[in-house]
Amino acid sequence: MTFASLGLCEPILRGVRAVGYEKPTDIQAQAIPKILRGEDLIGLGQTGSGKTAAFGLPMLHMLTGGEPGLRGLIVVPTRELCVQVAENLRQYAAFAGLHVCTAFGGVDMSIQESAFKRGVDVVVACPGRLIDHLERRNLSLEKVQMVVLDEADRMLDMGFMPQIRRIFVRLPQERQNLLFSATMPKEVEGLVNDFLPHAERVQIGTRSQAAKTITHRFAAVSVTDKASVLERLLENEPGKVLVFVNKKIGCEKLGNMLKRDGLPADAIHGDKGAEQRHVVLQAFTRGKVRFLVATDVAARGIDVDDIDLVINYDFPLGLEDYIHRTGRTGRAGRKGRAISLVAPSEKRMFTAVHSHLKGEQPQEGAFPSFRGGYSSGRSSGSGGGRGRSGGKSSGGKSSSGGSRGGSRGRTRHAAD
Ligand SMILES: Nc1ncnc2c1ncn2[C@@H]1O[C@H](COP(=O)(O)OP(=O)(O)OP(=O)(O)O)[C@@H](O)[C@H]1O
Ligand SMILES: [Mg+2]
Repeated sequence: MTFASLGLCEPILRGVRAVGYEKPTDIQAQAIPKILRGEDLIGLGQTGSGKTAAFGLPMLHMLTGGEPGLRGLIVVPTRELCVQVAENLRQYAAFAGLHVCTAFGGVDMSIQESAFKRGVDVVVACPGRLIDHLERRNLSLEKVQMVVLDEADRMLDMGFMPQIRRIFVRLPQERQNLLFSATMPKEVEGLVNDFLPHAERVQIGTRSQAAKTITHRFAAVSVTDKASVLERLLENEPGKVLVFVNKKIGCEKLGNMLKRDGLPADAIHGDKGAEQRHVVLQAFTRGKVRFLVATDVAARGIDVDDIDLVINYDFPLGLEDYIHRTGRTGRAGRKGRAISLVAPSEKRMFTAVHSHLKGEQPQEGAFPSFRGGYSSGRSSGSGGGRGRSGGKSSGGKSSSGGSRGGSRGRTRHAAD
C-alpha cells in the first residue's frame, strides 16, 4: 500500500514525502479512500496511529486547486493540540499553496485576525476562540466543505457540546463531517450516532484500545510516599518523562519541588498563560526540560517525539484519560512505558483500567494482580516486589538512597 494508491494528488504526495512517511498506517489506509469518496466518517484508532494525517491529507487533497477561502475546519480541545495539528497540516500542504491558520485563546485576537486576512483555507480551532472570531465576523463558516472533530469523544462530552452546537449551526447544510479519536466511551457513542447518523466507521482494534506498543506497570504507593518514589524513578531515567497529576495546584507544586531538587523539570497546566505553556512545551520537545509535570491539558493528542515514559503520579479519573495519557509514549510504532502510582483511594479506578487492559492485551505476566487486599504488583521481567512500600514496587527500580528524602514532607499533599 502506498499513499499514491489512496488517490491523493501530487502536491499532497510531495508534502507526505517531504515529511518522510513511507507508507500509510492502518487508519490512514482505511479512512482516506472513504473520506475522498465524500462520506461522513467516524475514525477510531489507537494513540499515535497517525489520525492527524488520516483526516488532514484527504482534507488538503479536496481543497487543493479550488477557490481560496475557508473551506476546511478542524476543532480540537486544547491550544497545544491546535498548534500541533496546524503545524502538521502546514507540512503536508507545503506544495499545495493552501493556508492553514489557528484560532486558540490566551493570545491577542488581532494576530489571528491578520493571519486570516492574508489568506485562509483551513482553520484549526479551539471552540471558544472560534466562536469569538465568528461573532466578530473575523471568519465565516459559510463555505466550509469539511469539518473534523479531533478527539471527538471529548468534543462531544458535556463540557464542549454547547460550544460545538453553536459552531455547527453556522456551518452549511451540505458538508462532510469527520470524527476522530482513540477512545469512544459507550455514553458518547449514542450522541455520536445522533450527530452523524449515516456515517461510515473505521475502527482499528477494539473500542478504546491502548496502543500495543506500551508496557503498563502499576505500583501500590501510599499518598505520602508518592513524591519520594517519583524522585527515585526520575533519577534513574535518562530520557523524557511526562508525569500526570489530576489538579493544577498539585501540578505546579510538584514541578517546583522537582526543580528545587535540581531536576530538569517544569510544569504545564491550565492556569499558565498561553505563552508560558508554549515555552514549557517547546523546552520539553527540545529536551531542555526532561521531566514535564502536566494535568490532562497534555493528555490528548500531543505528539512529542521521544517521550520514553509516562508516569501517572495521580491515577486518572477515567479509563479514557488513562489511555490518552499513557498514549503520549509508544507512538508511531515505537515502544513506550507507563508506570502508575496507585494509592489505596485510587484502587477502584485502577481495577477498572487494569481489567480493560487485561481484556484486550492478554500478555502473560504483564499485569500485576492485586492479591490479598492492597499490595503492589509487578510487570513481566520488572523484578518488582510485592509489598506496601512504594519504593521497591516502582517498576523494579532500586532506590538510589535517601538523598532526596527531605522533600517527602514538603510534597505530601502535592496531588491534593
Ligand atoms: N504514515 C506514517 N508513517 C510514519 N509516521 C507517521 C505516519 N503517519 C503519522 N506518522 C507520525 O506518527 C506520529 C503520531 O501521529 P498522530 O499525532 O497523528 O497520532 P494520533 O493517532 O492522532 O494520536 P493521538 O490519538 O494521540 O492523537 C506523528 O509523529 C506523525 O508524524
Ligand atoms: Mg491525534
